[in-house]
Amino acid sequence: MTVEIHLGDNLEVARRLPDASFALVYLDPPFNTGRRQERAIESAVRTEGLQPDPDAPAPPVGLVKGGFRGSSYARTRGALKLYDDRFDDYWGFLEPRLREAWRLLSDDGTLYLHLDYREAHYAKVMLDAVFGRHCFLNELIWAYDYGAKSRKRWPSKHDTILVYVKDPSAYFFDSDAVDREPYMAPGLVTPEKAARGKLPTDVWWHTIVPTSGREKTGYPTQKPEGILRRMVQASSRPGDRVLDLFAGSGTTGAVADGLGRDAVLVDHSPDALAVMRARIPDALVVG
Ligand SMILES: C[S@@+](CC[C@H](N)C(=O)[O-])C[C@H]1O[C@@H](n2cnc3c(N)ncnc32)[C@H](O)[C@@H]1O
Repeated sequence: MTVEIHLGDNLEVARRLPDASFALVYLDPPFNTGRRQERAIESAVRTEGLQPDPDAPAPPVGLVKGGFRGSSYARTRGALKLYDDRFDDYWGFLEPRLREAWRLLSDDGTLYLHLDYREAHYAKVMLDAVFGRHCFLNELIWAYDYGAKSRKRWPSKHDTILVYVKDPSAYFFDSDAVDREPYMAPGLVTPEKAARGKLPTDVWWHTIVPTSGREKTGYPTQKPEGILRRMVQASSRPGDRVLDLFAGSGTTGAVADGLGRDAVLVDHSPDALAVMRARIPDALVVG
């Protein structure tokens, strides 16, 4: 299968890719992207009511199918901007990339947006505006148990992955192709069922990338192949194309390649490029 790696800003690269050419788009943006890290004055939560922002830009009316539904887009954005102006920093970075993801998905395609729990609620609102609320398929929780644990609150040990489809009446999803997992209480099901394992639910218990072993590349934000496998198996067919605009160490490409899919990987970091080249030696480097 073909894996293409593009070195460059993902928005510029995405804009050069053809419409509807990917069955699956996986996005794993860095936490806090686009936000001003230091704010001189932390803005107080404004309680005087959420009003539409008269200055909010007009919705991109060209993208109507399922998403960008006229005034609701501007109203949502305006209201959130008033409520918490950090939203605008986040939206400013992510929104055009989500719009590109929507354009690049095939009619039966699926987006997986992988987020830190501190960002997931903002992104859910954005995706409702960009794709349409009816295109929301799942909120996946990837739960792991590793690293230091706070004693002042419940230790945070999960990521959120929001799943949206381009067309809720025509999206591709093959649950039979997904690797099954052991039952938590195998004694409660028949031996045949226990041997077959169960279909994963929307809560995925999965270890982080092991600190040693075949998978480990050393790239700091590397995601485990096991969680990408589920997405690729369920939401694409062999021979389909898969896109990752925040490719990092190339996990999506390695998994897609192994499962007989083509992949396009984008990252602006030369370090990421070096790791991807070593991990997927046959990949074609573009740009
Ligand atoms: C959280 S990491 C992705 C990790 C990846 N999922 C993996 O398994 O290795 C996010 C990546 O996005 C890249 N990135 C951030 N902003 C970008 C942009 N505007 N264009 C292209 N890549 C970007 C960073 O260089 C980083 O490698």
